Amino acid sequence: MSVAVVTGAGGSLGRAIAVRLAEDGRALALTDVDEASLRETADLVRSTGATVLDRVVDLRDEGALADFFEAVRSGLGPVTALVNNAAIYPTVPFLEMDVADYDAVHAVNQRGYWLCAQLAGRQMAGGAAGDRSIVNVASITMHGGWEQLAAYVTTKGGAVAMTRALARELGPAGIRVNAVSPGAFKTAAEEIYDDPEAYSDMVVERQSLKRRGTPAELAAVVSFLTGPDAAFVTGQTIEVNGGWVMA
Ligand SMILES: NC(=O)c1ccc[n+]([C@@H]2O[C@H](COP(=O)([O-])OP(=O)(O)OC[C@H]3O[C@@H](n4cnc5c(N)ncnc54)[C@H](O)[C@@H]3O)[C@@H](O)[C@H]2O)c1
Repeated sequence: MSVAVVTGAGGSLGRAIAVRLAEDGRALALTDVDEASLRETADLVRSTGATVLDRVVDLRDEGALADFFEAVRSGLGPVTALVNNAAIYPTVPFLEMDVADYDAVHAVNQRGYWLCAQLAGRQMAGGAAGDRSIVNVASITMHGGWEQLAAYVTTKGGAVAMTRALARELGPAGIRVNAVSPGAFKTAAEEIYDDPEAYSDMVVERQSLKRRGTPAELAAVVSFLTGPDAAFVTGQTIEVNGGWVMA
């Protein structure tokens, strides 16, 4: 059985990714720190007919993560796809951000990605059959920066560097590692802005395509990267941003 792990599955993009990978015929292992939203996604994914294992895990908790991946292996089988998606994005002026806030962002967006890739990679290398791949969710902000999001932007650039390093190292074992770099999708994340409507107008203004992207459109690219049509694609980052940044 093809088994996909999606972190941050309770969030806007994670939910769309989970549903899409279920529609692709995979069993889904879903995790998030927020129980209510995780259960909602799990119910939605179950309604597609897919097998689902869902567990509340804080990505900062190494032991809980290891237990989760072991439960996935014993409950569903070895992981064949991992989508490192969960992230936090506190807006704090750089000159005012204290190290504890920086460490919190790093712990989820960088160390969390690293730990999940390692735990999934070990299962992929040690017995999972067929195509195996990891997709790291980056961000358009890594190209041009974003005010008051320096810690977040730093981790997103790091996710792409990690993607390349792991693609290089795990390729000989047949494990592909890629990234998607979302532009600005219309999600709950937008509520951090004082005037979400003005923000939305600004996004459309900057994009080449004059409409907002949908989470399902990002999920389609994750589906491609984790699927058989991308069997010879590794170490790459696909920008999904309606033609805002062209990298
Ligand atoms: N929404 C966008 O337009 C956009 C743009 C660029 C990049 N991204 C990236 O896409 C991904 C998903 O973004 P989203 O908009 O769906 O965000 P979201 O906030 O809706 O979802 C993120 C999820 O991660 C979970 N999470 C946070 N901390 C966690 C922890 N310690 N342990 C486990 N789970 C934790 C949250 O509970 C949440 O459900 C992120 O990596 C984000 O950086 C999103």
